Amino acid sequence: MTATKGLEGIVATTSSISSIIDGELTYRGINIDELAEQAMFEEVAYLLWYGKLPTKSELEELKRELNANASLPDAVIQQIKLYPQGTNSMAALRTAVSSLALYDGEANDMSKEANIRKAIRLQAQIPSVIAAFARIREGKAPIAPKGSGGIAENFLYMLTGEQPDKVAIEALDKALVLHADHELNASTFAARVTVATLSDIYSGVTSAIGALKGPLHGGANEAVMAMLEEIGTIDNVEAYVSRKLENKEKLMGFGHRVYKNGDPRAKHLQKMSLELGKLTGDTKWYDMSIKIEDMVTSLKGLKPNVDFYSASVYTTLGIPRDLFTPIFAISRASGWTAHILEQYENNRLIRPRAEYTGPATASYVPLDKR
Ligand code: SDX
Repeated sequence: MTATKGLEGIVATTSSISSIIDGELTYRGINIDELAEQAMFEEVAYLLWYGKLPTKSELEELKRELNANASLPDAVIQQIKLYPQGTNSMAALRTAVSSLALYDGEANDMSKEANIRKAIRLQAQIPSVIAAFARIREGKAPIAPKGSGGIAENFLYMLTGEQPDKVAIEALDKALVLHADHELNASTFAARVTVATLSDIYSGVTSAIGALKGPLHGGANEAVMAMLEEIGTIDNVEAYVSRKLENKEKLMGFGHRVYKNGDPRAKHLQKMSLELGKLTGDTKWYDMSIKIEDMVTSLKGLKPNVDFYSASVYTTLGIPRDLFTPIFAISRASGWTAHILEQYENNRLIRPRAEYTGPATASYVPLDKR
């Protein structure tokens, strides 16, 4: 038995949800470029869950259900108020999602119908959790969801208490479309491993949030912004990148396990970053990002991944840095829950083997002899 480090190249399941073939990403066979240009996030969530694009009335019904389920149980809001100052936003989300299960009467109902209802509920409530957490930590009262509109609009509204403008809604919505699913990424795998024990959907999504939090995965978008802030101005880019590469340190937002010729989502985020920068009259973060990309690509051959330009996009939208990874979670909740539903449909316990590297034999030494 020989281990493959990081399971690289191992095909661990079949899935009909999303594919990465020859560097092209599709959701249910539809190229991400088409979806990014034309679809709204709710259509994509429907596509991931049900395997087809919704009709007009199916989309309206899903939006109605999402809006009807977006409120949080009062007990969960009270718990968020008790989180210590300085709580990490992904830790807060992980805890709150786990706790939502306690207030869902269907939490342990494993029927297909209940599981799809829970997927919709989770999708509806995750944005509300993040917005409530963001306000409560600033001493502000959480804002109830509007009860209408889409997830992008509602999230921005619950964050600020103001009706967001059309450009901001469309930009966030497109970012949500781009992050919704990505084959067997680490957090989706974590979700599938968890529910393959026939544990519940809340446990699966809680596992996934824990996996997404790490800087090698979803946490990279925050780390990119921290890097841009640390660099400060475009004049400092060259020295910073050279030093990082010389020291063999990782540059956040670059590289990918599967894509070696570039992440197909990055160009959409790059374009958005420029457009939003122009609209707000400040392309500083975009300009710095382009210079970093040029250097890293020419010196190291690494291309930006989905997390690189999303950092400047969210910053230009006025979103605090530590909410970037939670926003990734808002979107990926659709993919996680679609994968969980698929896992239940054709389940087998996921239990691989380990290549043992410990001592061949050893004997127990009684405590008083050690
Ligand atoms: C996401 O998989 C998904 O689907 C994830 C995702 C999704 O949609 O869910 O696409 C989202 O998580 C994007 C990735 C976000 N992470 C980062 O941006 C962190 C920085 N990137 C890297 O740490 C790295 O590229 C990973 C984690 C993304 C991939 O890691 P691998 O496949 O294990 O590759 P590796 O670390 O073994 O690197 C291979 C080589 C090494 O050089 P050598 O030792 O062979 O000389 O490439 C180098 C690495 O040092 N390298 C980098 C680098 N990424 C790889 N060097 C500098 N900076 C980097 N970012």
